[in-house]
Amino acid sequence: MDLRVELKNTGIGEAVASRRNEAHEALDKLWTGELDFTGWVRDPLEFDEAKVAELAAAAAEIREKCDYFIVLGVGGSFMGAKAVIDMLKPENPSTEVLFAGYNFSGRYLRELIKKIAGHDVCICVISKSGTTTETLSAYGIFKKIMLEKYGKEETARRTYVVTENRSNFLFDEATEEGCTIFDLAVDIGGRYSVLTPVGLLPIAVAGIDIEGIMKGARGICSKEAFAGDALDYAVTRQYMYEHGKKIEVFEFFDPYCAYFGEWLKQLFGESEGKDGKGLFPASLMFSRDLHSMGQFLQQGTPAFFETFITIKKDSADIDIPDIAMKPFAGKTIGQINKCAEKGVLAAHVKAGIPAVSMYVQDLTPEAVGELLYFFETQCAVSALLSGVDPFNQPGVEAYKKEMRGYINEL
Ligand code: PA5
Repeated sequence: MDLRVELKNTGIGEAVASRRNEAHEALDKLWTGELDFTGWVRDPLEFDEAKVAELAAAAAEIREKCDYFIVLGVGGSFMGAKAVIDMLKPENPSTEVLFAGYNFSGRYLRELIKKIAGHDVCICVISKSGTTTETLSAYGIFKKIMLEKYGKEETARRTYVVTENRSNFLFDEATEEGCTIFDLAVDIGGRYSVLTPVGLLPIAVAGIDIEGIMKGARGICSKEAFAGDALDYAVTRQYMYEHGKKIEVFEFFDPYCAYFGEWLKQLFGESEGKDGKGLFPASLMFSRDLHSMGQFLQQGTPAFFETFITIKKDSADIDIPDIAMKPFAGKTIGQINKCAEKGVLAAHVKAGIPAVSMYVQDLTPEAVGELLYFFETQCAVSALLSGVDPFNQPGVEAYKKEMRGYINEL
Protein backbone atom coordinates (compact mmCIF):
# COMPACT_ATOMS: atom_id res chain seq x y z
CA MET A 1 0.00 0.00 0.00
CA ASP A 2 1.29 3.44 -0.93
CA LEU A 3 -0.71 4.98 1.90
CA ARG A 4 0.92 4.84 5.34
CA VAL A 5 -1.30 5.01 8.41
CA GLU A 6 0.19 5.93 11.77
CA LEU A 7 -1.82 5.44 14.96
CA LYS A 8 0.92 6.12 17.50
CA ASN A 9 -0.62 9.47 18.50
CA THR A 10 -4.11 8.14 19.12
CA GLY A 11 -3.36 6.95 22.64
CA ILE A 12 -5.33 3.77 21.92
CA GLY A 13 -2.30 1.50 22.37
CA GLU A 14 -2.88 -2.23 22.59
CA ALA A 15 -6.67 -1.83 22.88
CA VAL A 16 -6.81 -1.77 19.11
CA ALA A 17 -5.81 -5.44 18.92
CA SER A 18 -8.84 -6.56 20.93
CA ARG A 19 -11.27 -5.76 18.09
CA ARG A 20 -9.15 -6.80 15.14
CA ASN A 21 -10.96 -10.11 14.73
CA GLU A 22 -14.31 -8.39 14.76
CA ALA A 23 -13.09 -6.00 12.06
CA HIS A 24 -11.95 -8.94 9.93
CA GLU A 25 -15.31 -10.63 10.38
CA ALA A 26 -16.94 -7.44 9.12
CA LEU A 27 -14.59 -7.42 6.13
CA ASP A 28 -15.53 -11.06 5.41
CA LYS A 29 -19.18 -10.04 5.34
CA LEU A 30 -18.39 -7.44 2.71
CA TRP A 31 -16.66 -10.01 0.54
CA THR A 32 -19.20 -12.87 0.85
CA GLY A 33 -21.86 -10.69 -0.76
CA GLU A 34 -24.34 -11.62 1.99
CA LEU A 35 -25.06 -7.91 2.50
CA ASP A 36 -27.01 -5.81 0.00
CA PHE A 37 -25.14 -3.04 -1.84
CA THR A 38 -21.69 -4.59 -1.65
CA GLY A 39 -21.15 -4.64 -5.42
CA TRP A 40 -18.45 -1.98 -5.01
CA VAL A 41 -16.26 -4.41 -3.03
CA ARG A 42 -15.26 -6.50 -6.07
CA ASP A 43 -16.03 -3.91 -8.69
CA PRO A 44 -12.43 -2.73 -9.29
CA LEU A 45 -11.53 -6.34 -10.22
CA GLU A 46 -14.52 -6.66 -12.51
CA PHE A 47 -14.08 -3.20 -14.02
CA ASP A 48 -11.00 -4.44 -15.82
CA GLU A 49 -8.60 -2.80 -18.27
CA ALA A 50 -10.87 -3.49 -21.26
CA LYS A 51 -13.86 -1.81 -19.61
CA VAL A 52 -11.71 1.11 -18.53
CA ALA A 53 -10.38 1.47 -22.08
CA GLU A 54 -13.96 1.57 -23.44
CA LEU A 55 -14.87 4.33 -21.02
CA ALA A 56 -11.67 6.25 -21.78
CA ALA A 57 -12.48 6.04 -25.51
CA ALA A 58 -15.98 7.42 -24.88
CA ALA A 59 -14.41 10.23 -22.88
CA ALA A 60 -12.00 11.02 -25.72
CA GLU A 61 -14.96 11.28 -28.11
CA ILE A 62 -16.74 13.59 -25.70
CA ARG A 63 -13.66 15.80 -25.49
CA GLU A 64 -13.69 16.11 -29.30
CA LYS A 65 -17.28 17.35 -29.17
CA CYS A 66 -17.30 19.95 -26.42
CA ASP A 67 -15.52 22.71 -24.55
CA TYR A 68 -17.63 22.10 -21.44
CA PHE A 69 -18.92 18.84 -20.00
CA ILE A 70 -21.66 19.68 -17.54
CA VAL A 71 -22.15 17.03 -14.89
CA LEU A 72 -25.52 17.12 -13.15
CA GLY A 73 -25.70 15.10 -9.96
CA VAL A 74 -25.75 15.41 -6.20
CA GLY A 75 -24.28 13.49 -3.24
CA GLY A 76 -22.59 10.30 -4.36
CA SER A 77 -23.48 11.17 -7.94
CA PHE A 78 -20.93 13.98 -8.14
CA MET A 79 -18.74 14.34 -5.06
CA GLY A 80 -16.21 11.65 -5.87
CA ALA A 81 -15.69 12.92 -9.41
CA LYS A 82 -15.29 16.50 -8.20
CA ALA A 83 -12.86 15.41 -5.48
CA VAL A 84 -10.67 13.45 -7.89
CA ILE A 85 -10.73 16.10 -10.62
CA ASP A 86 -9.69 18.76 -8.11
CA MET A 87 -6.82 16.60 -6.90
CA LEU A 88 -5.54 15.44 -10.29
CA LYS A 89 -6.74 17.80 -13.00
CA PRO A 90 -4.22 18.46 -15.73
CA GLU A 91 -3.28 22.04 -16.62
CA ASN A 92 -5.22 23.47 -19.56
CA PRO A 93 -7.58 20.56 -20.22
CA SER A 94 -9.19 20.59 -23.67
CA THR A 95 -12.60 20.14 -22.07
CA GLU A 96 -13.52 21.61 -18.72
CA VAL A 97 -15.80 19.58 -16.47
CA LEU A 98 -18.39 21.72 -14.69
CA PHE A 99 -20.77 20.59 -11.97
CA ALA A 100 -24.37 21.61 -11.35
CA GLY A 101 -27.51 20.01 -9.97
CA TYR A 102 -26.10 19.88 -6.45
CA ASN A 103 -27.75 23.04 -5.14
CA PHE A 104 -30.87 25.11 -5.69
CA SER A 105 -29.17 28.41 -6.48
CA GLY A 106 -30.60 30.29 -9.45
CA ARG A 107 -27.56 32.56 -9.38
CA TYR A 108 -25.20 29.59 -9.64
CA LEU A 109 -27.10 28.22 -12.64
CA ARG A 110 -27.29 31.62 -14.35
CA GLU A 111 -23.52 32.06 -13.98
CA LEU A 112 -22.91 28.64 -15.46
CA ILE A 113 -25.28 29.31 -18.34
CA LYS A 114 -23.42 32.56 -19.03
CA LYS A 115 -20.08 30.74 -18.95
CA ILE A 116 -21.10 28.12 -21.52
CA ALA A 117 -22.81 30.55 -23.90
CA GLY A 118 -21.24 30.40 -27.35
CA HIS A 119 -19.36 27.18 -26.52
CA ASP A 120 -19.98 23.57 -27.41
CA VAL A 121 -21.30 21.54 -24.53
CA CYS A 122 -22.18 18.00 -23.61
CA ILE A 123 -24.24 17.14 -20.59
CA CYS A 124 -23.91 14.22 -18.19
CA VAL A 125 -26.87 13.39 -15.98
CA ILE A 126 -25.93 11.11 -13.10
CA SER A 127 -28.60 9.71 -10.81
CA LYS A 128 -28.99 6.20 -9.47
CA SER A 129 -32.68 6.68 -8.70
CA GLY A 130 -33.25 8.79 -11.80
CA THR A 131 -35.65 11.07 -9.94
CA THR A 132 -33.55 13.33 -7.67
CA THR A 133 -34.92 16.88 -7.41
CA GLU A 134 -31.64 18.82 -7.72
CA THR A 135 -30.43 16.77 -10.67
CA LEU A 136 -33.65 16.53 -12.61
CA SER A 137 -34.64 20.17 -12.23
CA ALA A 138 -31.20 21.31 -13.45
CA TYR A 139 -31.44 18.78 -16.29
CA GLY A 140 -34.66 20.40 -17.48
CA ILE A 141 -32.95 23.80 -17.58
CA PHE A 142 -29.86 22.64 -19.51
CA LYS A 143 -31.84 20.38 -21.79
CA LYS A 144 -33.96 23.32 -22.96
CA ILE A 145 -30.82 25.35 -23.70
CA MET A 146 -29.36 22.45 -25.66
CA LEU A 147 -32.54 21.79 -27.60
CA GLU A 148 -32.60 25.42 -28.68
CA LYS A 149 -28.96 25.29 -29.71
CA TYR A 150 -28.63 21.82 -31.21
CA GLY A 151 -32.11 20.45 -31.90
CA LYS A 152 -33.48 17.14 -30.73
CA GLU A 153 -31.15 14.59 -32.30
CA GLU A 154 -27.89 16.40 -31.62
CA THR A 155 -28.98 17.10 -28.04
CA ALA A 156 -29.50 13.38 -27.54
CA ARG A 157 -26.04 12.73 -29.06
CA ARG A 158 -24.57 15.18 -26.54
CA THR A 159 -26.43 13.81 -23.53
CA TYR A 160 -24.82 11.09 -21.44
CA VAL A 161 -26.68 9.42 -18.62
CA VAL A 162 -25.41 7.28 -15.76
CA THR A 163 -28.15 5.41 -13.94
CA GLU A 164 -29.33 1.91 -13.09
CA ASN A 165 -30.17 -0.34 -16.00
CA ARG A 166 -33.84 -0.47 -15.13
CA SER A 167 -36.90 1.67 -15.43
CA ASN A 168 -36.83 5.04 -13.72
CA PHE A 169 -37.73 8.50 -15.06
CA LEU A 170 -34.21 9.28 -16.31
CA PHE A 171 -33.55 5.83 -17.77
CA ASP A 172 -36.88 5.71 -19.61
CA GLU A 173 -36.55 9.21 -21.05
CA ALA A 174 -32.91 8.71 -22.08
CA THR A 175 -33.74 5.37 -23.70
CA GLU A 176 -36.61 6.86 -25.65
CA GLU A 177 -34.51 9.78 -26.85
CA GLY A 178 -31.50 7.66 -27.75
CA CYS A 179 -28.97 9.18 -25.32
CA THR A 180 -25.89 7.18 -24.36
CA ILE A 181 -26.51 5.39 -21.07
CA PHE A 182 -23.80 4.01 -18.77
CA ASP A 183 -24.88 1.48 -16.16
CA LEU A 184 -24.56 1.91 -12.46
CA ALA A 185 -24.88 -1.56 -10.97
CA VAL A 186 -27.98 -2.04 -8.85
CA ASP A 187 -25.90 -3.33 -5.92
CA ILE A 188 -23.68 -0.23 -5.67
CA GLY A 189 -24.94 2.76 -3.69
CA GLY A 190 -24.21 6.38 -4.62
CA ARG A 191 -21.50 7.13 -2.07
CA TYR A 192 -19.61 3.92 -2.96
CA SER A 193 -19.79 4.57 -6.71
CA VAL A 194 -16.81 6.80 -7.49
CA LEU A 195 -14.90 3.87 -9.02
CA THR A 196 -17.75 3.13 -11.48
CA PRO A 197 -18.85 5.20 -14.51
CA VAL A 198 -20.48 7.61 -12.01
CA GLY A 199 -17.05 8.92 -11.09
CA LEU A 200 -14.89 7.56 -13.87
CA LEU A 201 -16.69 9.12 -16.84
CA PRO A 202 -16.34 12.77 -15.68
CA ILE A 203 -12.83 12.04 -14.40
CA ALA A 204 -11.81 10.62 -17.79
CA VAL A 205 -13.36 13.57 -19.64
CA ALA A 206 -11.23 15.84 -17.46
CA GLY A 207 -8.20 14.12 -19.03
CA ILE A 208 -7.17 12.06 -16.00
CA ASP A 209 -5.74 8.56 -16.35
CA ILE A 210 -8.63 6.40 -15.12
CA GLU A 211 -6.72 3.16 -15.66
CA GLY A 212 -4.16 4.52 -13.18
CA ILE A 213 -6.95 5.14 -10.69
CA MET A 214 -8.38 1.66 -11.13
CA LYS A 215 -4.90 0.14 -10.93
CA GLY A 216 -4.47 1.80 -7.54
CA ALA A 217 -7.86 0.53 -6.37
CA ARG A 218 -7.26 -2.99 -7.73
CA GLY A 219 -3.96 -3.09 -5.86
CA ILE A 220 -5.83 -3.20 -2.54
CA CYS A 221 -9.03 -4.83 -3.76
CA SER A 222 -8.66 -8.05 -1.75
CA LYS A 223 -9.14 -9.29 1.77
CA GLU A 224 -5.39 -9.90 1.98
CA ALA A 225 -4.63 -6.21 1.41
CA PHE A 226 -6.48 -5.47 4.66
CA ALA A 227 -4.96 -8.37 6.62
CA GLY A 228 -3.21 -7.99 10.00
CA ASP A 229 -3.40 -4.45 11.35
CA ALA A 230 -4.65 -2.80 8.13
CA LEU A 231 -8.16 -2.34 9.54
CA ASP A 232 -6.90 -0.69 12.72
CA TYR A 233 -8.09 2.71 11.50
CA ALA A 234 -11.70 1.44 11.44
CA VAL A 235 -11.22 -0.07 14.91
CA THR A 236 -9.67 3.17 16.18
CA ARG A 237 -12.64 5.20 14.99
CA GLN A 238 -15.01 2.98 16.96
CA TYR A 239 -12.76 3.10 20.01
CA MET A 240 -12.76 6.91 19.83
CA TYR A 241 -16.54 6.99 19.55
CA GLU A 242 -17.02 4.65 22.47
CA HIS A 243 -14.57 6.67 24.58
CA GLY A 244 -16.27 10.03 24.34
CA LYS A 245 -15.18 11.40 20.97
CA LYS A 246 -18.15 12.35 18.84
CA ILE A 247 -16.43 14.13 15.95
CA GLU A 248 -13.71 13.09 13.52
CA VAL A 249 -11.98 16.03 11.90
CA PHE A 250 -10.28 15.22 8.60
CA GLU A 251 -7.44 17.69 8.13
CA PHE A 252 -5.56 18.51 4.95
CA PHE A 253 -2.60 20.72 4.13
CA ASP A 254 -3.38 20.95 0.42
CA PRO A 255 -6.25 23.08 -0.92
CA TYR A 256 -6.74 20.70 -3.84
CA CYS A 257 -7.94 18.08 -1.34
CA ALA A 258 -10.85 20.18 -0.06
CA TYR A 259 -13.45 18.26 -2.03
CA PHE A 260 -11.91 14.99 -1.00
CA GLY A 261 -12.85 16.13 2.52
CA GLU A 262 -16.42 16.66 1.30
CA TRP A 263 -16.44 13.18 -0.22
CA LEU A 264 -15.25 11.72 3.10
CA LYS A 265 -17.93 13.61 4.99
CA GLN A 266 -20.61 12.16 2.76
CA LEU A 267 -19.16 8.65 2.84
CA PHE A 268 -18.89 8.49 6.62
CA GLY A 269 -21.86 10.71 7.46
CA GLU A 270 -24.39 8.79 5.39
CA SER A 271 -22.92 5.39 6.19
CA GLU A 272 -22.66 5.76 9.96
CA GLY A 273 -25.00 8.49 11.13
CA LYS A 274 -28.05 6.44 12.02
CA ASP A 275 -29.75 4.69 14.94
CA GLY A 276 -28.63 7.59 17.16
CA LYS A 277 -24.97 6.70 16.50
CA GLY A 278 -21.98 7.80 14.48
CA LEU A 279 -19.00 10.12 14.55
CA PHE A 280 -19.84 13.50 13.03
CA PRO A 281 -17.37 13.87 10.14
CA ALA A 282 -15.88 17.33 9.69
CA SER A 283 -13.05 18.56 7.51
CA LEU A 284 -10.60 21.43 7.73
CA MET A 285 -8.16 22.92 5.27
CA PHE A 286 -4.82 24.07 6.66
CA SER A 287 -3.17 26.43 6.85
CA ARG A 288 -6.32 28.51 6.14
CA ASP A 289 -8.35 27.01 8.99
CA LEU A 290 -5.51 27.22 11.50
CA HIS A 291 -6.37 30.92 11.53
CA SER A 292 -10.03 30.24 12.23
CA MET A 293 -10.45 26.85 13.90
CA GLY A 294 -6.91 26.41 15.25
CA GLN A 295 -7.88 28.00 18.57
CA PHE A 296 -10.84 25.65 19.02
CA LEU A 297 -8.80 22.62 18.13
CA GLN A 298 -6.08 23.52 20.61
CA GLN A 299 -8.23 24.55 23.58
CA GLY A 300 -11.94 24.05 22.81
CA THR A 301 -14.37 21.24 23.74
CA PRO A 302 -12.35 18.02 23.45
CA ALA A 303 -15.14 16.13 21.67
CA PHE A 304 -13.11 15.27 18.57
CA PHE A 305 -10.13 13.39 17.29
CA GLU A 306 -8.16 14.28 14.20
CA THR A 307 -7.28 12.41 11.05
CA PHE A 308 -4.46 14.17 9.22
CA ILE A 309 -4.20 13.29 5.54
CA THR A 310 -0.99 14.70 4.17
CA ILE A 311 0.66 14.50 0.78
CA LYS A 312 4.39 13.95 1.14
CA LYS A 313 5.45 15.55 -2.13
CA ASP A 314 4.44 18.94 -3.51
CA SER A 315 5.19 18.32 -7.18
CA ALA A 316 4.78 22.03 -7.99
CA ASP A 317 6.78 23.46 -5.09
CA ILE A 318 7.92 27.07 -5.39
CA ASP A 319 10.89 29.02 -4.01
CA ILE A 320 10.46 31.97 -1.68
CA PRO A 321 12.93 34.57 -3.01
CA ASP A 322 15.65 36.26 -0.94
CA ILE A 323 13.71 39.52 -0.81
CA ALA A 324 11.11 37.87 1.46
CA MET A 325 11.13 38.27 5.24
CA LYS A 326 13.61 36.17 7.17
CA PRO A 327 13.45 33.26 8.05
CA PHE A 328 11.19 32.46 5.09
CA ALA A 329 13.57 33.80 2.42
CA GLY A 330 15.44 31.05 0.60
CA LYS A 331 13.06 28.29 1.69
CA THR A 332 10.28 26.78 -0.40
CA ILE A 333 6.54 26.94 0.23
CA GLY A 334 6.55 23.14 0.40
CA GLN A 335 9.20 23.19 3.14
CA ILE A 336 7.18 25.68 5.17
CA ASN A 337 4.07 23.51 4.68
CA LYS A 338 5.95 20.51 6.11
CA CYS A 339 6.90 22.62 9.14
CA ALA A 340 3.23 23.56 9.55
CA GLU A 341 2.26 19.87 9.40
CA LYS A 342 4.83 18.86 12.00
CA GLY A 343 4.12 21.89 14.19
CA VAL A 344 0.36 21.38 14.26
CA LEU A 345 0.70 17.68 15.04
CA ALA A 346 3.22 18.36 17.84
CA ALA A 347 1.05 21.09 19.41
CA HIS A 348 -2.11 19.00 19.24
CA VAL A 349 -0.44 15.89 20.62
CA LYS A 350 0.88 18.01 23.52
CA ALA A 351 -2.71 19.20 24.08
CA GLY A 352 -3.81 15.56 24.35
CA ILE A 353 -5.83 15.45 21.12
CA PRO A 354 -5.80 11.93 19.64
CA ALA A 355 -4.46 12.04 16.10
CA VAL A 356 -4.41 9.54 13.24
CA SER A 357 -1.80 10.42 10.60
CA MET A 358 -2.08 9.26 7.01
CA TYR A 359 0.69 9.87 4.51
CA VAL A 360 0.13 9.75 0.76
CA GLN A 361 3.44 9.75 -1.13
CA ASP A 362 2.27 11.81 -4.10
CA LEU A 363 -1.01 12.79 -5.72
CA THR A 364 -0.95 10.31 -8.60
CA PRO A 365 -3.94 8.51 -10.15
CA GLU A 366 -2.75 5.24 -8.57
CA ALA A 367 -2.46 6.79 -5.10
CA VAL A 368 -5.88 8.41 -5.39
CA GLY A 369 -7.52 5.15 -6.54
CA GLU A 370 -6.00 3.39 -3.56
CA LEU A 371 -7.16 6.12 -1.21
CA LEU A 372 -10.76 5.94 -2.44
CA TYR A 373 -11.01 2.19 -2.08
CA PHE A 374 -9.17 2.31 1.26
CA PHE A 375 -11.72 4.72 2.76
CA GLU A 376 -14.73 2.90 1.31
CA THR A 377 -13.56 -0.31 2.97
CA GLN A 378 -12.64 1.32 6.29
CA CYS A 379 -15.97 3.14 6.36
CA ALA A 380 -18.06 0.04 5.70
CA VAL A 381 -16.11 -1.98 8.30
CA SER A 382 -16.36 0.84 10.81
CA ALA A 383 -20.14 1.10 10.36
CA LEU A 384 -20.54 -2.65 10.75
CA LEU A 385 -18.46 -2.49 13.96
CA SER A 386 -20.89 0.06 15.35
CA GLY A 387 -23.82 -2.15 14.40
CA VAL A 388 -25.39 0.01 11.68
CA ASP A 389 -26.10 -0.73 8.03
CA PRO A 390 -23.42 1.17 6.07
CA PHE A 391 -25.42 1.10 2.86
CA ASN A 392 -28.83 2.55 3.59
CA GLN A 393 -29.86 6.16 4.27
CA PRO A 394 -33.40 6.04 5.66
CA GLY A 395 -32.98 9.48 7.25
CA VAL A 396 -32.50 11.17 3.90
CA GLU A 397 -36.02 10.26 2.86
CA ALA A 398 -37.65 12.31 5.64
CA TYR A 399 -36.64 15.74 4.32
CA LYS A 400 -37.22 14.66 0.72
CA LYS A 401 -40.82 13.75 1.54
CA GLU A 402 -41.42 17.09 3.28
CA MET A 403 -39.75 19.01 0.45
CA ARG A 404 -41.79 17.20 -2.22
CA GLY A 405 -44.94 18.14 -0.30
CA TYR A 406 -44.02 21.82 -0.51
CA ILE A 407 -43.02 21.49 -4.18
CA ASN A 408 -46.36 19.87 -5.02
CA GLU A 409 -48.14 22.80 -3.37
CA LEU A 410 -46.35 25.39 -5.59
O1 PA5 B 1 -24.95 7.97 -1.37
C1 PA5 B 1 -26.11 8.12 -1.71
O2 PA5 B 1 -26.84 7.16 -1.93
C2 PA5 B 1 -26.71 9.50 -1.93
O3 PA5 B 1 -25.85 10.51 -1.50
C3 PA5 B 1 -27.01 9.70 -3.40
O4 PA5 B 1 -25.84 9.61 -4.15
C4 PA5 B 1 -27.67 11.07 -3.65
O5 PA5 B 1 -28.79 11.23 -2.84
C5 PA5 B 1 -28.10 11.18 -5.11
O6 PA5 B 1 -28.99 10.18 -5.46
P1 PA5 B 1 -29.24 9.75 -6.93
O7 PA5 B 1 -27.97 9.23 -7.49
O8 PA5 B 1 -30.30 8.71 -6.88
O9 PA5 B 1 -29.69 10.97 -7.68
